[in-house]
Amino acid sequence: MDTLKVNIKHAESHASRQDLATLLSEVLAAKEHLLKGDAAGNDFLGWVDLPATIDPNVIARIKSDAARLSAKSQLLVVIGIGGSYLGARMVIEALQSEFASMVRGKHPYVVYAGQTLGEDYYAQLLELLDREDYSVCVISKSGTTTEPAVAFRIVKAHLEKKYGTREAASRIVAITDACRGALHSIASQEGYPMYVIPDNVGGRYSVLTPVGLLPIAMAGYDIDRMLEGARDMRSLCIGDNTLEGNPALMYAAIRNVLYRKGTKVEMLVSCQPNLRYLAEWWKQLYGESEGKEHKGLLPHSLSITTDLHSMGQYMQQGERLMMETMLRVTTPDNTVPIPSDERNLDGLNYLIGKTLTEINDCAFEGTIEAHVEGGVPVVELTVNKIDEYTLGQLIYFFEFACGVSGYTLGVNPFDQPGVESYKRNMFRLLGKPGF
Ligand code: PA5
Repeated sequence: MDTLKVNIKHAESHASRQDLATLLSEVLAAKEHLLKGDAAGNDFLGWVDLPATIDPNVIARIKSDAARLSAKSQLLVVIGIGGSYLGARMVIEALQSEFASMVRGKHPYVVYAGQTLGEDYYAQLLELLDREDYSVCVISKSGTTTEPAVAFRIVKAHLEKKYGTREAASRIVAITDACRGALHSIASQEGYPMYVIPDNVGGRYSVLTPVGLLPIAMAGYDIDRMLEGARDMRSLCIGDNTLEGNPALMYAAIRNVLYRKGTKVEMLVSCQPNLRYLAEWWKQLYGESEGKEHKGLLPHSLSITTDLHSMGQYMQQGERLMMETMLRVTTPDNTVPIPSDERNLDGLNYLIGKTLTEINDCAFEGTIEAHVEGGVPVVELTVNKIDEYTLGQLIYFFEFACGVSGYTLGVNPFDQPGVESYKRNMFRLLGKPGF
């Protein structure tokens, strides 16, 4: 397996090998909790075995529904919020062209709803849906979350008006709980194809269930290969008890050592704009898993080199609060040569013969050097390329490390009691019966 690598050499002046060795027994105990299911949150550990246990019949159904809907849709509207949408969006945005919305491809272009209540967003979406043939994948584990429920009501009404109720029903797929919630009732009564989000898999750990797999398959990507990457990473994460051999243990350990020494913020830094939703997914995973009991590193993100021209100043000379986790991709899918220019008016001829990746790498190296000098510990994560297989690896790596890290921190990494507070207030303000 060509694996993701974790390199901590640029963090060693803050977290020594001795610090890490001292924490190893705690990290291994946390790992054992995940595998034995004997700690808080143990009813939400379904994701640990998911890549190896997912039912092949479900995969076959996903592929068949994806093909059926793709054949008649230019757009797929994915309705969901938080863990019910970020995983699919991360993978699709990482793999598709940055300009996919401008080019008609072989597969439907995915647009999102239910992740916002912006009124103009929906007005603009409906205008688009007037013009294009589309299908809908509505995702909500509870089946009662307000944002996707409102979005589904709006989009369903549009779909039924455009195609009639019968055809509309054949353009909708629902992904929800096996028997509870309003979405389950609607889907049963209207006869929509339904997929189940397993009870023991929480939203932010659900990308390898139909929640992520169906939209990703509809967008034309290889879900088998993604699951293979996750499976290979699972074997490594479960089978190796050393920090050097197990990237998830090393990442969980170094985060906790740095946190205990006063680090408050973790910046996930990527070198490609198509990874911005990887950062959004990661923020949810770590923020919701660890940010409780007034503990946890605050997850934040930067994109290189864009944000070096905005946040770079703070990173270099602002409060020393943060560590950086820099995600490096070594091999680009494409090469764009720097054209030669005899007159050299811009003085760039010294770059002829270099690829943009080589220039980006220099920016990356230069940033590491500068930030380390500025007192920021840097952890490097390296993958050779971004494709379905490496994304599967990254997903499982981050999930497993998050479980280990959360237990090492001393919190339940699988609940999110804080997410409920705003919902109760919003229901009261909206006058929802019972609030
Ligand atoms: O991770 C989580 O549990 C949350 O982010 C949920 O995914 C999000 O609140 C959406 O919930 P639901 O799928 O029930 O609509």
